[in-house]
Amino acid sequence: MKVHNLIQTLNEALGWELRATNMYAHYAANIRGIHRLQLAPMFTEEATESTMHGDIVRKAIVKLGGIPVTERNAHEIIHTTQYEEMLVHSLETETQAAAVYADIMVEIESLGDQEMYDAIEQIYLAELRSLEELRLLMD
Ligand SMILES: [Fe+2]
Ligand SMILES: [Fe+2]
Repeated sequence: MKVHNLIQTLNEALGWELRATNMYAHYAANIRGIHRLQLAPMFTEEATESTMHGDIVRKAIVKLGGIPVTERNAHEIIHTTQYEEMLVHSLETETQAAAVYADIMVEIESLGDQEMYDAIEQIYLAELRSLEELRLLMD
């Protein structure tokens, strides 16, 4: 039962990572204006990071005997060319991710798989760093 719940929450995280990969790649391609210089590379980096996170989560799901989702989270990716809007949607996405990983941390802890705990903790900390970075950017 515990493992079943964990697989479900990990799949939720995977859906958000698949969505984040799409969203950040979309924003990197679409950003206009002078901020493109700095934000396009940042969005590209976030897209790459999301792919890496998804990969780690997918492997954890398989390790637990689950089947990883292949569809992204259905939450709409809003098209814009305005960097302010992109940052708002990025902040929303990172907030969601951090919340899901916080849940996963609690569930894995009770499972006692140290290797998995460490791997997910690294992702969780990366989400918190992105969150803080976005907050500063929007200050
Ligand atoms: Fe992530
Ligand atoms: Fe992230």
